[in-house]
Amino acid sequence: MSPVAFAESQANSNIALIKYWGKLDRPGNYPAVPSLSLTLSDLTTTTRVELDARLKADEVHLDGELAAGRTRDRVIRILEHFRHGSGSPHFARVTTNNDFPTAAGLASSASGFAALVTAANAAYATHLSRAELSSLARSASASAARSLFEGWSMLAVGADSAVELAPACHWQLVLLVVVTATGKKSIGSTEAMNLTRETSPFYGTWVEQAPRLFEAGRAAVLERDLPRLGAAMEQSTLMMHATMMSANPAVIYLAPGTLNVLHQVTALRARGLACYYTMDAGPHVKVLCEATTAARIRDELAGVDGVREVILAHPGPAARLRLQT
Ligand code: DP6
Repeated sequence: MSPVAFAESQANSNIALIKYWGKLDRPGNYPAVPSLSLTLSDLTTTTRVELDARLKADEVHLDGELAAGRTRDRVIRILEHFRHGSGSPHFARVTTNNDFPTAAGLASSASGFAALVTAANAAYATHLSRAELSSLARSASASAARSLFEGWSMLAVGADSAVELAPACHWQLVLLVVVTATGKKSIGSTEAMNLTRETSPFYGTWVEQAPRLFEAGRAAVLERDLPRLGAAMEQSTLMMHATMMSANPAVIYLAPGTLNVLHQVTALRARGLACYYTMDAGPHVKVLCEATTAARIRDELAGVDGVREVILAHPGPAARLRLQT
């Protein structure tokens, strides 16, 4: 028997240049600090949502394995929202694949939930707007709200959905994704940021400082001012990591290879190559630079001790549908 309906979508990771870390003290997964990100041309999630009258429950396959626990719960909560909105009684089979390592600090939940809401909206024929899809993605994982948009996007404090700051064509920079270690992270970002909020003595200062960095980053993107954006972006990531390192117990995502890359980026800058780093909830480093110097900087970083791979990514597209019945 063929499925009742199906849809397939794709969404790309986005990397925050100004970081989200911490939630408002109210239900719904609202960010406590503003963030600004770049949706990438690479690091893609492909998700198929198939409504099947024979299913007695939703089924979630992530990278070839049946998902369980919190990941599965978050997917099912999203599917229930669409079932409720459409009036459809059908459960769904969700098949999702990443062309990059999952849960390793490469923003797989961002592209994953953006792809999921896009495919489910088509499969259940709910016709939600992009802003409504961004809001739903945010409720599952706040960074995912930004992958609904192309290029440069932002998510304000307590906002329902992200908004586009500028399209991908606005500024053709390159983001080098410097992979420094393999394997999944030891603690998920949700748990780690809650722990930071509850126990870090620096958390209040982080929340107080974040809007200033966000404003500097936003103005720098609009003016295409790389040194200004770079300064705000490095301060944002270092302040975020310093805050989580001061949690109890400490949250440390940075690995020896991470620090080697940071020193190399600083050294390259001293030699006149404009490049700036950011790190997420993982050991990898993402380096922003001009397209004209990207190949040279990539070669320099590929030789750093502890670096396994350097992926060259550009500003990329919004979450999109590929197929639909
Ligand atoms: C370090 O969006 O994964 O990547 O809302 O709890 O799912 P939840 O958190 P998540 O956190 C991402 C944190 C970050 C910074 C960022 O993307 O802004």
